[in-house]
Amino acid sequence: MEELRIFAPATVANLSCGFDVLGACLDNVGDQMLLRKNDLNQIRITKITGQELPFETDKNVAGVAVKALLEKLGTNQGFDIEIHKKIKAGSGIGSSAASSAGAVFAVNKLMGQPFTLKELIPFAMEGERLASGNAHADNVAPALLGGFCLVKSYQPLEILKLPCPPELRVVVLHPLIEVKTKDSRALIKLNVSLQKAVSQWGNLGAFVSALYTEDYGLLGRSLKDEIIEPVRSILIPFFDDLKEIAIKNGALGFGISGSGPSVYAMCKGQKSAEKVKEAMQLFYQEKGIDFDLHLSKINTDGIKIL
Ligand code: HSE
Repeated sequence: MEELRIFAPATVANLSCGFDVLGACLDNVGDQMLLRKNDLNQIRITKITGQELPFETDKNVAGVAVKALLEKLGTNQGFDIEIHKKIKAGSGIGSSAASSAGAVFAVNKLMGQPFTLKELIPFAMEGERLASGNAHADNVAPALLGGFCLVKSYQPLEILKLPCPPELRVVVLHPLIEVKTKDSRALIKLNVSLQKAVSQWGNLGAFVSALYTEDYGLLGRSLKDEIIEPVRSILIPFFDDLKEIAIKNGALGFGISGSGPSVYAMCKGQKSAEKVKEAMQLFYQEKGIDFDLHLSKINTDGIKIL
């Protein structure tokens, strides 16, 4: 195999109760990438459409992730990388993660699969380090493995794939402003009160339990964030109104997607999700704010070969 075209999915990280440790993979929002072996012993970004991103390998998240993988393999095999972005940079649905996860997935396939999907995660995390100054795994893990993923620990890195209740749907609203993860992370206080920590780990544990037992009610009650959301939500126009509207219209839970400005509403069933989507859409239209809106299943497969 000399070349591979893939779909690299968007992801919703944090999911309110799991800052930096929890994420889910979306099904119908994502980029396309084409990776091709070259005989030049060079990693080249040869084409980018849809977004203005750097072509220099060391400044591009896909470039650094592939470089990390090939260095580990000890090969000087060259690759040409085409990136066709549908996910906007700074949207909060894992734009950089899709590029870095997609690139290492395809290179691994083209090299005869020397690594498992889980083993690819640290290489993709190098892309996150470049993009945000922090190598978090809560976007790249679900992009590569699909479904819901939990980062059990960073040192050593241990990622768990969690079950996915079949009726879950996610509505994502992206107010068309760009929030850089680096800036959004700078807002977060480094110390957390014991009271808030107790509430957060209770919710995270309950969320994981709800995935296993398909308890949609418990799942919704667990989507709470007393630590990060109060600080970051100030960047999102009418966050509290959107939350009230989503919950009033039947969403199980609502919160910030990744580092924002996108917000997500977790819903049970397609009909319920459509109702929530329409209500959020109407509200933002009335406010005159530009936005993108997505309704997606959870993608339990992750990256797809096209
Ligand atoms: N967990 C990361 C953060 C995700 O919230 O900063 C970034 O998309």
